[in-house]
Amino acid sequence: MTLLEKYDIPAPRYTSYPTVPYWETDQMNESEWMHHVVRVFEKDRRLSLYVHLPFCEKLCTYCGCNKHITRNHAVESPYIQSVLAEWAMYQEQFPGKPVLTELHFGGGTPTFFHPDNLKQLLDGLLATVEVAEDHEFSFEAHPASTTREHLETLFSLGFRRISVGVQDVDEDILRVINRFQTVEQVQYVTDAAREIGYESVNMDLIFGLPFQKQEHIRKTMAWIQKWMPDRIAFYSYAHVPWMKNGQRAFDENDLPDTVAKRALYETGKRIWEESGYHDVGMDHFSLGKDALFQSAQSGILHRNFMGYTPFFTPLSIGLGASAIGDTFTAFAQNIKTVAAYETAVASGHLPLQRGHLLSQEDQLIRQHILNLMCRYQTSWQQEDQRDKILARLAEPIADGLVVVGPNGVKVTDIGKGFLRNICLAFDERYWGKVPTGRVFSQAV
Ligand SMILES: C[S@@+](CC[C@H](N)C(=O)[O-])C[C@H]1O[C@@H](n2cnc3c(N)ncnc32)[C@H](O)[C@@H]1O
Repeated sequence: MTLLEKYDIPAPRYTSYPTVPYWETDQMNESEWMHHVVRVFEKDRRLSLYVHLPFCEKLCTYCGCNKHITRNHAVESPYIQSVLAEWAMYQEQFPGKPVLTELHFGGGTPTFFHPDNLKQLLDGLLATVEVAEDHEFSFEAHPASTTREHLETLFSLGFRRISVGVQDVDEDILRVINRFQTVEQVQYVTDAAREIGYESVNMDLIFGLPFQKQEHIRKTMAWIQKWMPDRIAFYSYAHVPWMKNGQRAFDENDLPDTVAKRALYETGKRIWEESGYHDVGMDHFSLGKDALFQSAQSGILHRNFMGYTPFFTPLSIGLGASAIGDTFTAFAQNIKTVAAYETAVASGHLPLQRGHLLSQEDQLIRQHILNLMCRYQTSWQQEDQRDKILARLAEPIADGLVVVGPNGVKVTDIGKGFLRNICLAFDERYWGKVPTGRVFSQAV
């Protein structure tokens, strides 16, 4: 059996530990969550804020994110009022003014919203915080709906990074995934952003999409070489049709098999490395001048629900439907549907749904997984159950994915392609209750 066949098993992507299916609290208690938030805030006023803007005009069938499809733009205002009302509930509890280090607008499609509405939202958020000198404000820009006015408005409010959703440039692949955008639109957004003064342009791409072949990846890469984004997120297509109805539009037979899928990844990676990009962490590449690469070099790269970020902020709050907050000792996720989210906020309560309180062991394992995901190595701690972890790592070690030293483990170059499998060996929650049904996407 080849390494690809052996390791192409369902495994988490580890944007959190414990992973969401293992969270223990189905109904997160508001005062408990606030207790964790305030405890962190009292020690350190820095804050990372994520705002989920869930609306999209059309359904991209590959999409694994939480979204609400509508063409009715009358939904914008009430949603923004709800997000501001949710923010006010946090404000009331903070014993001081937060220092905003990170702000990310994700979706859905943030550029679904009219720039005036985004400004109203930002004016409300920024009026009550100090903005850190070294801050990162970014948003997800759909090439088909991002206007110059969006870019200018958000720039004037401190945004310096955009993340453009490209996925693939080929018209046939875009048609299959029901995504309507052109390379001219990507070009326009990229050029306009740079002209206005944005410091970093990220592009999201996906390999392993239905019917995607080498020729499509090569075509996309040729455009990437022209655009030269500062960062590239090259995601492995996560096929989870049992959770995402849109993905039922195609089945497993339409998808490249494991070997073909990995070959798509290798083609992309090779072309970028030739063009001066560095491998930063799982699925991420960046140019040497970009903050993400520099933080990877200096060992401070961090990974959270938004993906990789250049630094760690102890407190993250998520506003909006389905958004997740994190105090390192607790996670809390908001209600997912827009209507139920807005109703909960209107009742004067935090719109929390599920969550998790991290035990000491969870925190220890979380740190190991972060170390592996961000630094490709981790060091043993006194409390570790090394024998258990090493027994689970026996095959990855024999296959040359990991090397074990007296102080810890190190991922090899081959192992970098199997990071999810290596992290799985540390995942005590998973091994305590291995899923019987379909829960995670395939690791390759
Ligand atoms: C929250 S989505 C929103 C992007 C924005 N709405 C747009 O379409 O431009 C962020 C990114 O997640 C990635 N993504 C979404 N669904 C995925 C899936 N099933 N597998 C892998 N990546 C996925 C895409 O690359 C996408 O750009």
